[in-house]
Amino acid sequence: MHFDAIGRVPGDPILGLMEAYAQDPNPGKFDLGVGVYKDAQGLTPILESVKLAEQRLVNSQPTKTYIGGHGEPAFGKAISELVLGADSALIAAQCAGATQTPGGTGALRLSADFIAQCLPSRGVWLSNPTWPIHETIFAAAKVKVSHYPYVGSDNRLDVEGMLAVLSEAPKGDVVLLHACCHNPTGFDLSHDDWQRVLEVVRKRELLPLIDFAYQGFGDGLEQDAWSTRLFAAGLPELLITSSCSKNFGLYRDRTGALIVCAKTADKLIDIRSQLANIARNLWSTPPDHGAAVVATILGDPELKSLWAGEVEAMRLRIAQLRSGLVEALEPHGLRERFAHIGVQRGMFSYTGLSPAQVKNLRDHHSVYMVNSGRANVAGIDATRLDLLAEAIAAVCK
Ligand code: LMR
Repeated sequence: MHFDAIGRVPGDPILGLMEAYAQDPNPGKFDLGVGVYKDAQGLTPILESVKLAEQRLVNSQPTKTYIGGHGEPAFGKAISELVLGADSALIAAQCAGATQTPGGTGALRLSADFIAQCLPSRGVWLSNPTWPIHETIFAAAKVKVSHYPYVGSDNRLDVEGMLAVLSEAPKGDVVLLHACCHNPTGFDLSHDDWQRVLEVVRKRELLPLIDFAYQGFGDGLEQDAWSTRLFAAGLPELLITSSCSKNFGLYRDRTGALIVCAKTADKLIDIRSQLANIARNLWSTPPDHGAAVVATILGDPELKSLWAGEVEAMRLRIAQLRSGLVEALEPHGLRERFAHIGVQRGMFSYTGLSPAQVKNLRDHHSVYMVNSGRANVAGIDATRLDLLAEAIAAVCK
């Protein structure tokens, strides 16, 4: 029959962990897998600012009819300002515009198809390592994927290696950069490093695609935008994918944007016509609810300040969990070995644990993390840091 020859493919390495964790009957289990923020109670609650905005929408939204291919203009404006700055010269000159997408992943897929169709023969350069879905999205769009070094087997940032490889990249290729809170490693470039990357990008005439999925989780909402704004000010053209999954907690509402910066307002209109055309074949028009929530929050000073406070609280909790875990490892003589956890930024830590140690943690201690050794620090239960440190020490013996 028609389906007889269809085989099975392995489940997603990150989302699959959610299922394995849910099925584990051990009440003392730890969920450090998928990148989802958890509070002190181990819950991923809906933000208060989001609840209030949703309430307003229930009362006032007049229709559920389709929105255009680029989504709601109020969302596009608000997210562009959040990313590029309210005083952005590019926004004022109408040289930057956002296309609403189903999450940051949708924005990445739209970028990949845009590159494949409008910039044919350009390859994309990904950090090694990177979020595994970067690899598969560009492969699915049939864009040639190459890698630049980022974190080596010594679990240290390799800026010199990165710059050396990018200096040899073919002119015109696309380079994907993580704006902050690098996924999966948590190692971010310094301001000086970013300046050097910008120089190479200029010299090789590369097109940066900045993946900005964790704004507010590193050093703060404005601070995390530093690198993106540096590139937007220093280059005539730029692609930025922005996600509202983490900083608005809108994971399942699939809310994100592809922001394009172009040389002229007229060129931006050309590009946007292509994006709407590509999006029509991917998802037709974007989902609205999450974007309407974001536009409501960012358009109201009171809601915006409530939201900014909630993001800051999440950021501070993650920072405390990082230092707390390093301290909890101290009695086991492992403080130095894991000191990098306190230096990394955002949800994730490349712990340096091997796949065998990760498996041991899962099988014998019910600690769930990605095989690569990536731990979602935001999933740690602060009251059980000692137990987590004990489990880590046990597999490090
Ligand atoms: C992660 O890396 O865990 C998150 O970005 C969630 C996902 O979709 O993989």
